Amino acid sequence: MPVDAPITDRSWLHQRLTSDDPAILDDLWQRADACRRAEVGDAIHLRGLIEISNHCTRHCAYCGLHVANRAIQRYCMDDDEIMASVAQAVDFGYGTVVLQAGEDPRLTKDRISALVERIKTTTPLAVTLSLGERHEEELRAWRSAGADRYLLRFETSNPDLFERIHPRPPGAPDRLTLLRSLRALGYEVGSGVMIGIPGQRWDDLIDDLLTFRDLDLDMIGVGPWLSHPETAIGADPAAWMAPADQQVPNTEDLVYRVIALTRLLCPAANIPATSALATINTVNGREQGLQRGANILMPNLTPITYRALYQIYPGKACIDETGTQCNACMRGRIGRIGRHVGSGRGDAPNRSRRGA
Ligand code: 5AD
Ligand code: FES
Repeated sequence: MPVDAPITDRSWLHQRLTSDDPAILDDLWQRADACRRAEVGDAIHLRGLIEISNHCTRHCAYCGLHVANRAIQRYCMDDDEIMASVAQAVDFGYGTVVLQAGEDPRLTKDRISALVERIKTTTPLAVTLSLGERHEEELRAWRSAGADRYLLRFETSNPDLFERIHPRPPGAPDRLTLLRSLRALGYEVGSGVMIGIPGQRWDDLIDDLLTFRDLDLDMIGVGPWLSHPETAIGADPAAWMAPADQQVPNTEDLVYRVIALTRLLCPAANIPATSALATINTVNGREQGLQRGANILMPNLTPITYRALYQIYPGKACIDETGTQCNACMRGRIGRIGRHVGSGRGDAPNRSRRGA
């Protein structure tokens, strides 16, 4: 296959995902890094992540926060606790706070609207919400209150696999529909998938990559699926696996390949080096992600008392560190690879290009 085959060509993508040829991989890393530099530059934007509630009403077969998991203690931060973490984001010079939670009915339309308004009127921060599948009227109200961005991974583009891993109450809209509504409401839209979840086949992963491009996403987060023993899949992964020659592995190497291909397919998107990647390589997973296409880091600002309880998967990076420690750690990592921290909000170049 010539190197200049169209990047949307399935066999070109398949080869980049699976080949062991060092020349093909070197070319992929170099092209992804050059594309990242040309499209979004050397700045790395920091998004302060506040995990505001670990309650969830859903039954996801992969996530440790699922409603039937009685082994975790549940929490929901109050507004003053959240605002204290928001103040840290300002102190640390972050451009964005991300408010993330399970699907928690305590986080009502009015409560989140008031909170967003409070952050937007008292700080210069961009506000990203990541609160799961919510009603259109809630999403509209939060956008009117000033929320800038919304993160909702579609997890897999294979509808059958999605139904299996993500049981849906009758009448719930599918995630691709929700992502289109978010776009129509004027949000910057982020999504992504897990890599190597049992049942995911190579063809699914190629579809995921092409879907990133079709949706013209502003932010794309990918990370390895990590087995959580208190989940349906984690309890018996073998039962969920695709045939061995088709099952995608949840390896570190494959995460880099997907990050690099995502950069080539969606040149102007913001792409984080995720905590799940940092979890499988605590030494320099994030750095390698940043050198193979990524341009965003999400330092954790969740108060230390709650961090360990937000256990979507075990062994999550940064569980024992404070916000101050993560801030220093991230800046050190950025400096050591010769990049710099971005100033301002770090809006997606994609969105300005669309004329939003
Ligand atoms: N391993 C890796 N990622 C996970 N997520 C949820 N559970 C797991 C897991 N066991 C990811 C999902 C979700 C995001 C917040 O975390 O992609 O959208
Ligand atoms: Fe949290 Fe390094 S970013 S300890």
